[in-house]
Amino acid sequence: MGTARKVHLVSLGCDKNLVDSEKMLGSLYDRGYVFTDDPLKADAIIVNTCCFIRDARDESIQTIIEMSDMKNAGRARALVITGCMAERYRSEILDAVPETDAVIGTNSWQDLPDILEKCLGGERGNESFRSIDENFDTSGRRIVTTGGHYAYLKIAEGCNKRCTYCIIPSLRGRQRSVPMEQLVEEAQTLVDNGAKELILVAQETTVYGTDLYGRKMLPELLKRLNDIDGLEWIRVMYCYPEEITDELVAAVRDLPKVCHYLDIPIQHASDHILRRMGRATTRAEITERIARLRAEIPDIVLRTTMISGFPGETDADHKTLCEFVREMDFDRLGDFAYSKEEGTKAASFSHQVSKKLKEERRGEIMLIQQENAFRKASGRIGTELRVIIEGRMTDTDEEGNVYAARTYMDAPDVDGYFYLEADRELMTGDFVRAVCTDSSSYDLYGEIIS
Ligand code: F3S
Repeated sequence: MGTARKVHLVSLGCDKNLVDSEKMLGSLYDRGYVFTDDPLKADAIIVNTCCFIRDARDESIQTIIEMSDMKNAGRARALVITGCMAERYRSEILDAVPETDAVIGTNSWQDLPDILEKCLGGERGNESFRSIDENFDTSGRRIVTTGGHYAYLKIAEGCNKRCTYCIIPSLRGRQRSVPMEQLVEEAQTLVDNGAKELILVAQETTVYGTDLYGRKMLPELLKRLNDIDGLEWIRVMYCYPEEITDELVAAVRDLPKVCHYLDIPIQHASDHILRRMGRATTRAEITERIARLRAEIPDIVLRTTMISGFPGETDADHKTLCEFVREMDFDRLGDFAYSKEEGTKAASFSHQVSKKLKEERRGEIMLIQQENAFRKASGRIGTELRVIIEGRMTDTDEEGNVYAARTYMDAPDVDGYFYLEADRELMTGDFVRAVCTDSSSYDLYGEIIS
């Protein structure tokens, strides 16, 4: 038997795309491939790309160029580009980067093993672009790359909303929910393999099930997942505020494993801009929804995202957003400068805002949020919290046992850390109780409670 062929995969973009990468790895593992962190030692290199906004596109282009250099310098015989940028630019990528051997769209990753075989056999210029609205089979092996103690569960693909700035529906198609039985089974497998926390993701999680079952089924799904033995935390991302129902609020409030944490992308607070963005909501509605969430679940942590410098955003609109961010006192907030994306409605809107002004406004929003976040972090001093261990920060015993951990208030990658001193060795994925003794910017510090 010859040695197994090695694959190096780079996953860019969002957690939904990461799940696709993990499924690709699973399908390759089933064909006998092994994986390497070193692109120079790989027989094949795969780049799973993103092109949501300009920065993401630049990062994808940069990575493709780097990986084509690695192909030239190393032993790789195949470079395959997958994901959102492949879906958007298709054969243009093959033309622009001659080292590329194949391009595969967002709804065609199942074809990767066959296409890779062809590439390694010397064939060039392969493409696979199934319809992005087609139903897809997402069952099958998955190789989790997040350390195993937490994993993302992608509950639906695509999006039926038509926000005027967003390119994603044209890259990912209409909403297709994953059947609940399949999700429960996948969740069980993830937990059997060591996951303690599952993070539910989709372009829009709140409308999960409407296409399959005729009604919103996220609360029901949460109940089913809550019953899985060995699972400790369930976290829900990407909830459109206008779609949050009383049933969902009750599920988050009452199910013991569901973290009192919601990510609710709001994007703006001026009704004039919300209308231009194609968002089906108003400032008054958002404010009411947030008040309800906080009244029902007093310790709920809310994360949101905003866009600054959307076409037509006036000084008054920006002031409205500043006021709103100050008043709403979000726990976590990210603000993006609007990115004009070809093929979206907003790209043709009049009154585009200059790059300089977009960045200034973004900076101002982030400063307001910084005050909120730093004050909230220092307000945690003296409180007791349950934390999940992410990893050890110290190398030697002399340095003591210091760990990076997360509380229910922190989603991986996007939120802060709780740095913990412990009197004993802990493992990634352990849950312990801790007391917060200090804070610094977005992070907390504390000690284990023995
Ligand atoms: Fe990027 Fe595609 Fe996700 S554009 S943000 S990888 S859905």
